[in-house]
Amino acid sequence: MKGLILSGGKGTRLYPLTYTLAKQLIPVANKPVLFRVIESIRDAGVTEIGIVIAPTTGDEIRSAVGDGSRWGVQIMYIMQASPDGLAHAVKIAQPFLGDEPFVMFLGDNVIQGGIATLIRDFANHAWNSQIVLKEVENPSQFGVAKLRADGSIEQLIEKPQDPPSNLALVGIYMFDHHVWEAVHGIQPSKRGELEITDAIQWLVDHGYVVRPHVHQGWWIDTGRPIDMLEANASVLDEITPSVAPDAMIESSQIDRRVTVQAGAQIINSIVRGPAIIGEQAIIRDSYIGPYTSIYHDVVIEGCEVDRCIVLEHSEIRHIQARLHNSLIGRHAKVTRRLERPLTLSMNLGDHSSVEII
Ligand code: G1P
Repeated sequence: MKGLILSGGKGTRLYPLTYTLAKQLIPVANKPVLFRVIESIRDAGVTEIGIVIAPTTGDEIRSAVGDGSRWGVQIMYIMQASPDGLAHAVKIAQPFLGDEPFVMFLGDNVIQGGIATLIRDFANHAWNSQIVLKEVENPSQFGVAKLRADGSIEQLIEKPQDPPSNLALVGIYMFDHHVWEAVHGIQPSKRGELEITDAIQWLVDHGYVVRPHVHQGWWIDTGRPIDMLEANASVLDEITPSVAPDAMIESSQIDRRVTVQAGAQIINSIVRGPAIIGEQAIIRDSYIGPYTSIYHDVVIEGCEVDRCIVLEHSEIRHIQARLHNSLIGRHAKVTRRLERPLTLSMNLGDHSSVEII
């Protein structure tokens, strides 16, 4: 069994963050989503992994991930010159995958419980494909499956306006070599892409066995800032907290659901978990509330921050309001000058959003 991770895409729903950072590299609980994907595949016993990259963010992904030795896996990169769809990405990965069965995992998906059981079930049955479904409230944003009364797949539709069910396709798929007939047998969709949904429908229509697995745990497709915060909360709920031996905690209250990474300093502050404070981060005279991830080298001084993700080297000082439900990029500064009249002075990138309540 081989692994295929799709890590292209522009991440438009996460602008402005993704103008300068590949969306798959945004950390959830202080670890890039893509690293979590690699670990899920590795933990299921798959060690040969191809990553499909795009010209825009490919170099960044390559330098962050490397050859995979850090995880004990071998990683190969496959360049997709233009965003022609998920089934097109599979097509160009054929020289890497050969005729072996493989698991394809979208590099921005986070799933509870990993995929070891799914991979084992696929290996132990004569299925040609296995797909993962999840009941969602907003099915028209995803590929949607309509099942028959016996649980088999009747129809799969990509982002339908009028969804036939609330079962969304999770970005995790398993295939055997018959997928090659499918990806060569389909035509581009209305949006001009070779859709993976159409390739799976092709398998169903040609009598191949596609097994739907309905996932019961949480699943998050990290497309929008709110999804990132949700994924962050779900993952923080599950990590086993630890405090690095060289972390400095002084005159502070840290509850037992807090992870403090190497070299972090927490001074005269309160941190309520689940939360994570990154390497060399400084938290001073502040309150950090639940479901917050403060990444490496961040400084927070005189502030209240909760349910936020703050990326590396950012500074948040004396804002005198609680920073809540926010996703702050790298090297960002959120500060307040303590003088009258109260003024706001900003230097914001395109697509930034600031809410003053
Ligand atoms: C893709 C698939 C869609 C699936 C989704 C899961 O959509 O085309 O069928 O439900 O991933 O994350 P995209 O996120 O590329 O729009």
